Amino acid sequence: MNGAGGIDALVAVAAAKDECRQRMLDAPTAEALASARAAALGREGRLTALMELLKTAPREQKPALGVALNAFKNELTELAAVRATELGSVATVLARQDVTLPAAALERGSLHPLTQTERRVVQVLKGLGFSVTDGPEVEDEHHNFVALNIPAGHPAREPSDNFYLAGVPWLLRSQTSTVQIRTMEEKQPPLRVCAPGRVFRPDEVDATHHYMFHQVEGLAVGEGLTMADLKGTLLLFFRGLFGDDVELRLRPSFFPFTEPSAEVDVRFPGRGWVETGGCGMVDPAVFTAVGIDPERWSGFAFGLGLERLAMRHFAVPDIRHFTENDVRFLRQLG
Ligand code: DAH
Repeated sequence: MNGAGGIDALVAVAAAKDECRQRMLDAPTAEALASARAAALGREGRLTALMELLKTAPREQKPALGVALNAFKNELTELAAVRATELGSVATVLARQDVTLPAAALERGSLHPLTQTERRVVQVLKGLGFSVTDGPEVEDEHHNFVALNIPAGHPAREPSDNFYLAGVPWLLRSQTSTVQIRTMEEKQPPLRVCAPGRVFRPDEVDATHHYMFHQVEGLAVGEGLTMADLKGTLLLFFRGLFGDDVELRLRPSFFPFTEPSAEVDVRFPGRGWVETGGCGMVDPAVFTAVGIDPERWSGFAFGLGLERLAMRHFAVPDIRHFTENDVRFLRQLG
């Protein structure tokens, strides 16, 4: 046998290895893999036959042929093991699961009742010409109090009535009226904005109180705006939200940032009055704090509790339902 015969032997080993490897890769089942493995490495398989070449190969070719045969054995042994694991895990999965069964139905979700309420509220206010804005839930005392005409020492600033953060001059906002200030700091009148959002107060939790709830703030600034504009806007708002049967009552009250101020009550035919928030004409001190000339501009503002509106709309008896995530409650109102 000459040198060329030795090369032929190497080529034959390489070709056989490729063929055996492909068969292992193509084996669709553990059984098919077992026979592919036997055909390559078994006693009567390709490797045994290829070993015969060693006997006839020229002496100087034997080391190279030996290396090639070793590689044949090692590579295919390893590949067989890897494929056995793969097919094994596929087989276990298939055995455990009937893949022909129809897929489990996806559960259909729905919007949280407060989200639904907020969207409706915003939709109605947009219809009345208000654009939507928001502000941070972590606020400084300037926006939550000072600029709203609530000076140092005012009872509304008591630590027991607010969530002050430790070590920084901030608190969780106690009202969305903060957004009035932020809006007027940034934009010049005329303005008509609303701002729904979360507010926080360390209130004792019961059926009508929570330490976290939602308000929607409204602010309109223009020339010659009066209490009549405020009342007309609120009436149209509540009619848009609840229907034309709803009645509105403004009850004289006090807020530091409005003068005059009023509580906003609503009533449905045959039912009692419900307080839903506060409102009033923007106090000149607030305009001054944000650099708007109170001689030229006037405005009205209101802040309504979204939970109050949602409880009315959906007849929810307890404010705690909104945050308890009981899917039976959420499903009823989805
Ligand atoms: N910020 C008040 C509160 O949380 C509600 C309120 C009253 C908002 C009068 C207003 C307003 O904009 O004009 O109790």
